[in-house]
Amino acid sequence: MVKKILVIHGPNLNLLGEREPNVYGESGIEVLNNNIIDRASSLGLECEIFQSNHEGAIIDRLHSARGDSDGVVINAGAYTHYSYAIRDAISAIKIPCIEVHISNVDAREAFRANSVIAPVCRGSISGLGFASYYLAVQALAEM
Ligand code: DQA
Repeated sequence: MVKKILVIHGPNLNLLGEREPNVYGESGIEVLNNNIIDRASSLGLECEIFQSNHEGAIIDRLHSARGDSDGVVINAGAYTHYSYAIRDAISAIKIPCIEVHISNVDAREAFRANSVIAPVCRGSISGLGFASYYLAVQALAEM
């Protein structure tokens, strides 16, 4: 059976390319998404990508992953640092989730160094640019 993964981009990640390019790079989300899909398919994975700026929509998509996904890569954006609701959703669904960040959250403002979702994720990858996502996809393929 083909493994299916879900990639979730949280708030403001739709603005990649124009948002703080010195921090997040100059490429847009379409480039990132195409690269993720290429890498997933070369690893034999089916991949769906979801972006939302709304906490509840992210929670709803995590819940529906119960029926359609074997693993999740999530960049929860700023929700990473304070959304107990997203943390509880990840914990509830019992599907391996990998937390990713484009920037090095430990090298920026102090509030970014705390992730409330990290304890319920399988692992976290931060600071490697778009490669944070690619490495997470590879890790799910190997699980
Ligand atoms: C981010 C880091 C967060 O602190 C920030 O709020 C984001 C993006 C990253 O990918 O580096 O929106 O998750």
